[in-house]
Amino acid sequence: MSPRADEAGTGVSPRPGSADPDRRETENARTRAGEAWGTRIGLILAMAGNAVGLGNFLRFPTQAANNGGGSFMITYFAALLLLGIPLMWIEWGLGRNGGRYRKGHLPGLLAAVWRHPAAKYLGVVGLVIPMAVMVYYTYIESWTLAYAFFSATGDYWGRETQDAMVGYLRSFQGVGEERVHGVLTPFLFFTVTLVVNIWVVSKGVAAGIERLARIAMPTLFILAVLLAIAVLLQPPSAGGDTPIRGLQFIYGPDFSRLTDASVWLASAGQIFFTLSVGMGSLAAYASYLSRRDDIALNGLATAATNETAEVVLGGTIAIPAAVTFFGVSGAVAIAQSGSFNLGFATMSVVFQQMAGGQLLGTAWFGLLFFAGITSSVAMLTPILAFLREEFGVRREWAAWGLGGITFVLGLLHIIWLEHGFLDEWDYWAGTFGLVVVALLEVIAFVWIYGPANAWRSIHEGADIRIPRFFKFVITYVTPVYLLIILVWWGATDALPILGLSRAAGGGPVVAATLPYIWAARAALLGMAMVFLVLIHWAWRRNGYDDRAGLPEVPELQGGDRA
Ligand code: PHE
Repeated sequence: MSPRADEAGTGVSPRPGSADPDRRETENARTRAGEAWGTRIGLILAMAGNAVGLGNFLRFPTQAANNGGGSFMITYFAALLLLGIPLMWIEWGLGRNGGRYRKGHLPGLLAAVWRHPAAKYLGVVGLVIPMAVMVYYTYIESWTLAYAFFSATGDYWGRETQDAMVGYLRSFQGVGEERVHGVLTPFLFFTVTLVVNIWVVSKGVAAGIERLARIAMPTLFILAVLLAIAVLLQPPSAGGDTPIRGLQFIYGPDFSRLTDASVWLASAGQIFFTLSVGMGSLAAYASYLSRRDDIALNGLATAATNETAEVVLGGTIAIPAAVTFFGVSGAVAIAQSGSFNLGFATMSVVFQQMAGGQLLGTAWFGLLFFAGITSSVAMLTPILAFLREEFGVRREWAAWGLGGITFVLGLLHIIWLEHGFLDEWDYWAGTFGLVVVALLEVIAFVWIYGPANAWRSIHEGADIRIPRFFKFVITYVTPVYLLIILVWWGATDALPILGLSRAAGGGPVVAATLPYIWAARAALLGMAMVFLVLIHWAWRRNGYDDRAGLPEVPELQGGDRA
């Protein structure tokens, strides 16, 4: 029973549930053996690709502008140090540990460290959340593809005011009165985007995701650097505003809003989203690593790459560009007027004023597309792992099947965008849900598995020793910080939104949107029910004994990782 990497992967999937337990285990091990990262650099690029996304270039500048610039950055770095980086190590640790049991999905990862029947069911959040975020994230990603195309063809050239470009964006989204685009346009771009995503995912970890990251990541960094330079070289506007003014707005230390709870919550939320922690996708990636692989340094490198892309590059493009043309107060007003107005409308106005604008516009939206796709391919990974590992579904089948589900759910978002359907999912899955998952992960990996075990596990195969200070942080500070956020957020946000006294996207609830809000919630709950049933079924058919622990899979015999 010594599975080798070359034996499986592309071949026929095993038939779990076969009567002979010995045989079943061999097949299981082989299924997993087909999946491994090719090289260390490929692994880091894939992990960084998972983290670097629309969050870095669209969400970050909008959040920073919305929450007081310099004040936001102070709370942001606190959250990075005390939540983001520790959770990065925890997810990698939890994930790689799960790989020993051939598990890449949260129900299995939790069961691997916590021998309690409840563990697997709690893990349902690690299936619902990535599935939900995948749907609306690929939809937004498809806008970037469309806009890259519209920039290249100069489709919006001539609409030189913010209002005109907001109208254009709304027309593309199929909301508002103006009609510039065909009704089918958003569906077309969504379909293309989704097909590319699923195609990559169906190729597997090394041949699909890693290969994509090797091309997309360097490309997007080059594009981002070029755009940052182009923005910084902009001459002062008629009103005397400069790009430097924009940099001062974000980076100039400002203590005035540090007593404002919402700034702390917003920055923590941004850290979760941008680093991809609290979704289980990093853990799923890490489950394909062996005990001989480093995770301490690789995890840190992933966080560092993401922060460079976010703070240095993400911070130097949209805000300085907006400030130069609209002043600080104008840029803040734009950020507050809607999450996508800065990235799609304002930037498109700005490019029309710049030399080589069409090229720069294509570069900006192309960069967003690359950033987006290396993240969205990560989102289905935990669910794919679940279907393959527990039900023996072939990778291609699982990928295209999930693609079909994503497509159908995506249609709801496209059709009901203006009724707040997307906002509802983004709040429960993409914001609040991440904190819930993160808390579960910390409790299971650090408290139940034990701080000493967690610390040792993170250091297996490690190339660096993490300063001991972080053991204290991981054990006490991170969980307490998370708990405070959860309670605070629960009281100030989640309950009011749940009780419909406030809309998930901000502002009051409009009566006409109520059916859509409930439909959005019902869809999330329905997904959770389906996954709960599947988890229950999986444990029964595979004969897992919660109290005895999951069966371990032998380590691969070399050749699995270069
Ligand atoms: N980190 C990604 C971004 O910044 C979003 C993401 C979240 C991707 C969770 C995967 C998992 O856009």
